[in-house]
Amino acid sequence: MAQAKKLYIRTYGCQMNVYDSERMAEAMGSAGYTQAATPEEADMILLNTCHIREKAAEKVYSELGRFKPLKEANPDLKIGVAGCVAQAEGEEIMRRQPLVDMVVGPQSYHRLPQMEARARQGGKALDTDFPEDDKFDTLRTRPKAKRGPTAFLTVQEGCDKFCAFCVVPYTRGAEVSRPAPRVLEEARDLVERGVREITLLGQNVNAYHGAGPDGADWSLARLIWALNDIDGLERIRFTTSHPNDMTDDLIAAHGTCDKLMPYLHLPVQSGSDRILKRMNRKHTAESYLRLIERIRAARPDILLSGDFIVGFPEETEADFQATLDLIEEVNYGYAFSFKYSTRPGTPAAERAQLDEDVKSDRLQRLQALLTRQQRAAQDAMVGRQVKVLFEKPGREPGQMVGKSDYLHAVHVADTGIAAGQIAPVEILESGPNSLAGRLSGG
Ligand code: 5AD
Ligand code: SF4
Repeated sequence: MAQAKKLYIRTYGCQMNVYDSERMAEAMGSAGYTQAATPEEADMILLNTCHIREKAAEKVYSELGRFKPLKEANPDLKIGVAGCVAQAEGEEIMRRQPLVDMVVGPQSYHRLPQMEARARQGGKALDTDFPEDDKFDTLRTRPKAKRGPTAFLTVQEGCDKFCAFCVVPYTRGAEVSRPAPRVLEEARDLVERGVREITLLGQNVNAYHGAGPDGADWSLARLIWALNDIDGLERIRFTTSHPNDMTDDLIAAHGTCDKLMPYLHLPVQSGSDRILKRMNRKHTAESYLRLIERIRAARPDILLSGDFIVGFPEETEADFQATLDLIEEVNYGYAFSFKYSTRPGTPAAERAQLDEDVKSDRLQRLQALLTRQQRAAQDAMVGRQVKVLFEKPGREPGQMVGKSDYLHAVHVADTGIAAGQIAPVEILESGPNSLAGRLSGG
């Protein structure tokens, strides 16, 4: 009997890529592949790449170079590049690195089994189309394997916002929302397989406008309310949002929808109106702050997180100070911050760039402030009782770890509690990256 072939996937970048890698593993699962733990034991290696990283393409080429000895040792090994670098570079990848057999863009994963078959016959397979068919649909035939307690579910892809620094509108294409019934069906399936918490994903998730069962568009809030009715699903989150798409119904849901968790990732990028304009963000610092006020009025304890870019072209010390001021005013519980770096093909890449030293200095100061706020938000949990969804055993024997409603990692000792259970925990201590507590028996 033929032995099962093995697939090794290395994933970079955002949660959407994590979700896509799972779908690719499932698609290849139906073509007879099981997962390999290391590239050495694989019959097929896929790099699911991210273009947000600095020098993303160069890093992919050097990563691929390291697979050369494996390919020499096993000529049947097939190597593929997926994700946003695949989309951006296309055929160039095969030209520059002949050991690559397959290049597959983020909209074409469902065609991977056919591409693999072509590669097995000695051909090269390239697919970076934006096809009309729903790739998620064709990926639906999959085994009902048991899942962990948390899962991502992509509901929307692409973006029409065209922020001047961002490649997403080019690599992931125009904004497309999946029909609501498909999303609900997938959510029910996940819950049947043990999932308790679903994070809805999209590059601009709150612009969601998928067709409802009657054909009329549903907003993200409407979709969340429908998910709220699924028995066994306990928690709903979504990411990433644009401030201009925080509609009234979505803000209100944060106060009224009991399964929607009190955590919101709402990037602002900069606190300077001049830079926001140059970034083509289409909102001001003031409009963002007013929005935050309304969200906090709906859900006072909500934990806010954001993305920030420092050193965008033309950013002055005063512009940077405006970002620090905005951060002081909002008080974030979590944050991601980046030095601006050029992405080929985006408008800002053509502009005069700031000195690297200036960028590094600003990033350091920004992160010092954000880290202080993050730590304060975490420390403020000590003495409180929070609900924790337990996910897995911790490092120490008997220890279990999970996430609070606010997305803080929490661990408890020696309890016998199982993964998938939600229990109230009294927080006793705040460490560098997690909270420690004890079950409070309620
Ligand atoms: N340079 C630095 N950071 C960037 N991001 C996106 N593009 C760039 C870039 N060219 C950041 C933004 C975005 C996050 C996902 O990555 O902050 O919200
Ligand atoms: Fe990129 Fe987000 Fe701006 Fe869309 S809204 S262009 S994904 S940064």
